[in-house]
Amino acid sequence: MQPNPAPARPLPADNVTNGLYGQDILSVKQFTPAMLDYVFRVADEMNTLVERFGSADLLQGKIMANLFYEPSTRTSSSFMAAMQRLGGQVIPINGVTFSSVSKGESLADTVRTLECYADVIVLRHPEAGSVAEAAHWASKPVISAGDGVGEHPTQALLDAYTIRRELGQLEGLTVGMVGDLRFGRTVHSLTRLLLDRNVKFRFVSPRLLRMPEEIRDEVSQAGGEFTEHEDVAEVIGEVDVLYVTRVQKERFTDLTEYEKVNGAYTITPELLQEAKEEMVVMHPLPRVGEITYEVDEDPRAAYFRQMQNGVYIRMALLAAVLGKA
Ligand code: NCD
Repeated sequence: MQPNPAPARPLPADNVTNGLYGQDILSVKQFTPAMLDYVFRVADEMNTLVERFGSADLLQGKIMANLFYEPSTRTSSSFMAAMQRLGGQVIPINGVTFSSVSKGESLADTVRTLECYADVIVLRHPEAGSVAEAAHWASKPVISAGDGVGEHPTQALLDAYTIRRELGQLEGLTVGMVGDLRFGRTVHSLTRLLLDRNVKFRFVSPRLLRMPEEIRDEVSQAGGEFTEHEDVAEVIGEVDVLYVTRVQKERFTDLTEYEKVNGAYTITPELLQEAKEEMVVMHPLPRVGEITYEVDEDPRAAYFRQMQNGVYIRMALLAAVLGKA
């Protein structure tokens, strides 16, 4: 017998957090330009707050459950840091083998358990659609920290925030995405988030790892422009953003296929000599050889700043979802 879903969530009028109070965060498609501006503005304030005071008590008394069914370093720890810097508490559940999930508990029951203890649930899961399913069962807000090959909305928000901080705007840029565009959820979300920004997309991947047709269609339907390439040298001179990704080994059922495409791209200082002076190199990390360590010295290498921005964006989101402006 199927358990009963959570009742529809009654939401108070929300002019303060731009409609984010009490909401699940499952896809970047939820974010209007006004909501994005709001989150970016609050993230700027969170940056100032952390620099001046280190922490605040905005979310004192609130608890976040951090439920990760897949490995994570940055997303997991930056959500925890965000909650703790705002005075909240965290229930971290990383090794699901130590929880009841390993006893066969369903996702529905796990989230309905955690919401008895927490005010918000952050969830990473290997199956696309599973975070939406969890949100269906939970009556407290669920924030996606990545659902398989689906989306990684908070990463895309911090990516867009980084682009805006580094280059001053999101509109009209030429954005090159390099690597595993098929399985990489970060590039799926970022492409969708930039759809209405008049961006020219340059998708660079081996044929096996092309951007999924569904997302290419979304770009076309939005009137956007994209081209596809196998060689990064074809686009390096024109891009404002070079967004590099790791080949997602864990998504391959046949590892010989992985071996064929692994190591297809390496960004080096020599390659960057061909790039514009004002551009940024980004990567959601972890990197496994796609960008050499020498590139880190280049002022255009933004991936460590990008990672730092993740804390401010997640602080802004947690505050908004929990109704604190
Ligand atoms: C990414 C992810 O998990 O999708 N990492 C992250 O969240 N910063 C990218 C990756 O694992 O390659």
